[in-house]
Amino acid sequence: MWRTLSVTLLLTSLVGGDVYLHNPRGSNNRLNERSANRQNANRVFDSQNNNRGGYNVGDKTNNAFNNEDGQFRMTYFQSGPYGWDSSNKEDKSGRSFLTVEWTNQHGCGGNADSDPHKQNCQVVLQYMCQDNINSATGTADTLRNGRTTQTQDHTPANNLQETKAQANSRKNNNVKTDRAIQEPWQWYDKCYNRERNQGLFVADQITRRNNNGYSSAIHTRQNPNGNRRGYECPEERDHYPYWHPTPWRDIAVLTDNITMCDYYKRESANSAAKYECVEFYNNARTVKKHWSRWNNQQDCEDNGGEWRAYYSYLEKAPTVSQADCQGEGRSGLRYVYGYPEGEDSDTQTCLVLPPAPDCQPAPWSRSNHLGNSRDGQASNYTWVLPYFPSGNTKRCVLRVRYNISTDDYDPWQTDAAYNQNLQLGLLSPVQQNPTVDIGAEYSPLRLAINTAQFGRTFQDRSHVFLLKPRPSGLEGRAIHNLNVRGKRGNIVQVYPAVEYDFVPAHLHMEEGDLVHIQWEGSNSHNNGNPAGDGQAGDAGEGTTGTDRNNIVQMRSLLDNFPAPFENSTMWNSARVWWPAAPKYGLAKDLAVAFASSGYYTCFHAEVCHTESVERKNKLDKLLNNAPASFEGALLEFRKGTYHYMCTRNNNFSNRSQKGTIHVVEGTKSSFTDNDLP
Ligand SMILES: *[C@@H]1O[C@H](CO)[C@@H](O)[C@H](O)[C@H]1NC(C)=O
Ligand SMILES: *[C@@H]1O[C@H](CO)[C@@H](O)[C@H](O)[C@H]1NC(C)=O
Ligand SMILES: *[C@@H]1O[C@H](CO)[C@@H](O)[C@H](O)[C@H]1NC(C)=O
Ligand SMILES: *[C@@H]1O[C@H](CO)[C@@H](O)[C@H](O)[C@H]1NC(C)=O
Ligand SMILES: *[C@@H]1O[C@H](CO)[C@@H](O)[C@H](O)[C@H]1NC(C)=O
Ligand SMILES: *[C@@H]1O[C@H](CO)[C@@H](O)[C@H](O)[C@H]1NC(C)=O
Repeated sequence: MWRTLSVTLLLTSLVGGDVYLHNPRGSNNRLNERSANRQNANRVFDSQNNNRGGYNVGDKTNNAFNNEDGQFRMTYFQSGPYGWDSSNKEDKSGRSFLTVEWTNQHGCGGNADSDPHKQNCQVVLQYMCQDNINSATGTADTLRNGRTTQTQDHTPANNLQETKAQANSRKNNNVKTDRAIQEPWQWYDKCYNRERNQGLFVADQITRRNNNGYSSAIHTRQNPNGNRRGYECPEERDHYPYWHPTPWRDIAVLTDNITMCDYYKRESANSAAKYECVEFYNNARTVKKHWSRWNNQQDCEDNGGEWRAYYSYLEKAPTVSQADCQGEGRSGLRYVYGYPEGEDSDTQTCLVLPPAPDCQPAPWSRSNHLGNSRDGQASNYTWVLPYFPSGNTKRCVLRVRYNISTDDYDPWQTDAAYNQNLQLGLLSPVQQNPTVDIGAEYSPLRLAINTAQFGRTFQDRSHVFLLKPRPSGLEGRAIHNLNVRGKRGNIVQVYPAVEYDFVPAHLHMEEGDLVHIQWEGSNSHNNGNPAGDGQAGDAGEGTTGTDRNNIVQMRSLLDNFPAPFENSTMWNSARVWWPAAPKYGLAKDLAVAFASSGYYTCFHAEVCHTESVERKNKLDKLLNNAPASFEGALLEFRKGTYHYMCTRNNNFSNRSQKGTIHVVEGTKSSFTDNDLP
């Protein structure tokens, strides 16, 4: 097909686009900059997005953070132990649901017959977690947002024979505790040193060489110069499923071609072992190197390495022996090498394996329109949060990749055999800015084609968030997350981020289901200059640069006036499951906490003393002295419909930040009037 180049090119639409995560908030590489443009597009990962867009890290208080502990981390309850990984979509028991929302610019989804799309695409959702430890005592590999917008450093090994001490000292010198870490340093160092996959299609791009004189996995068609962003590996970034072990766990692949689903589920690192070459520092082969030049079994073994299978894992199951691990009824466990591996001499251990990823049709969206999906709903995926049997709280990051290609070359069959090689007389099926003859002699037209971006991957990632175990007794309940998206400013000031709204704005749940309401905001969303392709400014109420949210009940979505507390039904229909009593013992406590974004934690002084409405200094009417983020509460609601609004951001009648919780009859209600506050 690629030989019929001149014909297919005429049908080509220009490919290039962006993806922005709105819930959880995607950083687009921002941290806390007050400018509309991000300060450092290379901070953690390669987004290939516009410099605008993205959300700052949440602040715990009404001040901008000055260390990690001042940052707010969204904290979601994990699923319960039962069936969170089952493929039965209807089964809600014990699952925690998080609405992942994004916009992608160049269209995706649709049906080849009824509304043929103009590009092939996949949306790949992944996450990475580790045990949550105090960030102040974290190690070099602790997932963190950092305090500065600088990129971590990387110094390449200056020879392939370096010692372990030399490798350690490179790492110690490179990794800074005040900068973001997602992928660990070793991951990038591996990538830097591993030869690039020579089987890949790079069109007519010339891939450069690393310090040791060969083209490595940091050099790809989309990144031929080997530029570095954080510790992301370009070859892994550009391709899915990746063929070597990766630190990412798959959640879902959303594709325009669901006949590919079996392939994705089978080849996902969640399901299949992935291999990498292991070399050793010592002859006894006990002290393992974290990197190797060799990317295939033959080269690896010819050079004295061990071609080793690694498995992705949710976490280690440390107390389980090999016999136990492989015993009856232990289907989710496996005694193998896990990735990420141990620092030096990793051993096989009992691992809790992740389930195969979900695979669904991609939400439909229009080409060249960074907007909603069908029916005006945002492109979204409901993530069933994992369950970690250890009962530990996890520190995690979410990643979305949006990958598009056209049929100018067969995306899954075109490999290195099609790379441009003029000596062999081979032309790439796509060429840099080619011209086409349109019948007018001597006046060819030039097509806008950049072969580094022809077939292209965009990306966004969240800041660090926590997944924590449920309070006991709630193992079998459905938990829905209700959050806020958006940042301060009007539409052109925030674009391509979005203005405020609740997510999901209409939450449908059954009696007995629980909802965890929480939000985060920043105090540095000034959207000032430089504003790049857009407008600077942060139109909004209250102190400049600050996000604030709250929830007060309204009688109808058409109103813009809250119901007086005496007339409200929402908080006295709610049973509080978390935080533990005595917090929110009264409906009035809930009402004031949600209305004040946690500024007040109760009404009466005898309950929460200086944090009470009775004792604390007055709340500012625009929430200026309230915290930007609020951990909220885990609530069960009585059957009914509850409308609510944010008093600060619901501007006149033309900018509504309102939502509704619909609770219909269900079977799991544990509600009696005695449980009401
Ligand atoms: C993007 O699609 C191409 C096929 O066109 C595929 O080779 C590549 O692995 C995909 N990358 C990602 C990140 O999905
Ligand atoms: C969908 O994927 C299958 C399996 O890889 C392939 O045979 C088919 O051509 C693809 N269909 C489209 C419309 O791309
Ligand atoms: C998610 O997308 C589906 C399909 O378009 C839509 O029906 C649903 O309302 C969306 N959910 C949210 C929370 O936007
Ligand atoms: C809301 O309205 C006020 C006028 O009271 C205006 O100054 C402010 O910028 C508006 N907010 C937004 C987000 O446009
Ligand atoms: C509040 O309830 C009282 C008593 O039922 C009623 O008279 C009043 O109209 C209500 N006010 C509002 C604003 O709903
Ligand atoms: C709402 O509309 C009014 C009237 O058009 C306008 O003056 C005001 O600026 C608008 N407010 C917002 C927040 O857009």
